[in-house]
Amino acid sequence: MRRTPDAAGLSVEFRDVSIRFGPFLAVANVSLKIEPGEFVCLVGPSGCGKSTLLNVAAGFLAVNRDAGAEIEGEVLVDGVPVRKPDVSRGVVFQSSGALFPWLSVRQNVEYGPRLQGIRGRRLRELSDQYIELVGLGSAAERFPGQLSGGMQQRVQLARVLANQPRVVFMDEPLGALDAQTRAVLQGEIERLWLETGSTVVFVTHDLDEAIKLADRIVIMTAGPAAGIKSVHKTTQTRPRDDTEPYHVELRKKLWNDISDEVLKTLKMQKD
Ligand SMILES: Nc1ncnc2c1ncn2[C@@H]1O[C@H](COP(=O)(O)OP(=O)(O)OP(=O)(O)O)[C@@H](O)[C@H]1O
Ligand SMILES: [Mg+2]
Repeated sequence: MRRTPDAAGLSVEFRDVSIRFGPFLAVANVSLKIEPGEFVCLVGPSGCGKSTLLNVAAGFLAVNRDAGAEIEGEVLVDGVPVRKPDVSRGVVFQSSGALFPWLSVRQNVEYGPRLQGIRGRRLRELSDQYIELVGLGSAAERFPGQLSGGMQQRVQLARVLANQPRVVFMDEPLGALDAQTRAVLQGEIERLWLETGSTVVFVTHDLDEAIKLADRIVIMTAGPAAGIKSVHKTTQTRPRDDTEPYHVELRKKLWNDISDEVLKTLKMQKD
């Protein structure tokens, strides 16, 4: 069930975005409109600029002068240009290093709401709710170092979702996990997305993962000056079955598009 419209996802629009690091043009002229509540997967060769695009959309690159990024064009969230990070936009990173190791699962999850001034019973209810949602009720008082990689990624999800973001950027959130844990968490991410109605922009190298989760899959070209190569709409009903002919056909099509770009990247790294 999707959340009520007033709390649901926001649109995200990349409008002719180019990003330079000094003389290096990483991303060139990316334009993409993501609908409120849409689940979009971003796929592309290593180093093409996927994380960089997420960092711009989250507002990190605009405020982090050390990164030395020069941004042309704009990212609009709900029609408003992104100038800095905002609590309405959550980011899940690939590594669970984003958790505070000295805080318990509960304290990690409560961190964001606490910054927003939430205290007492309301804070406790919120952390209970999101810790339950990711199935970690029995581990709430443990510390990240006492959890498996899969559990740590769930804590990250709970921590981001506890802020009730209306857009969630996920940068290879399941990349470091074993295949079975990954399959289970894919299902959970899909369920959480359906429940919250937020917009999701999800970076992955795994074509099956993209076909399972996305409403649209965006394939990027190899960098430098990386851009969008193709966009594929997926219309299957959920939950999806990766043995269906539709899935197998789409995977072939995506691989056809992406393999050339991966080869270009490998060739460039050799030269
Ligand atoms: N702060 C920075 N300074 C200089 N170059 C950078 C910086 N951040 C990223 N780059 C360069 O920009 C390009 C895009 O990097 P980015 O991390 O966005 O790639 P990616 O598509 O996320 O790759 P991967 O799939 O390996 O995670 C790369 O060539 C990278 O070296
Ligand atoms: Mg990356």
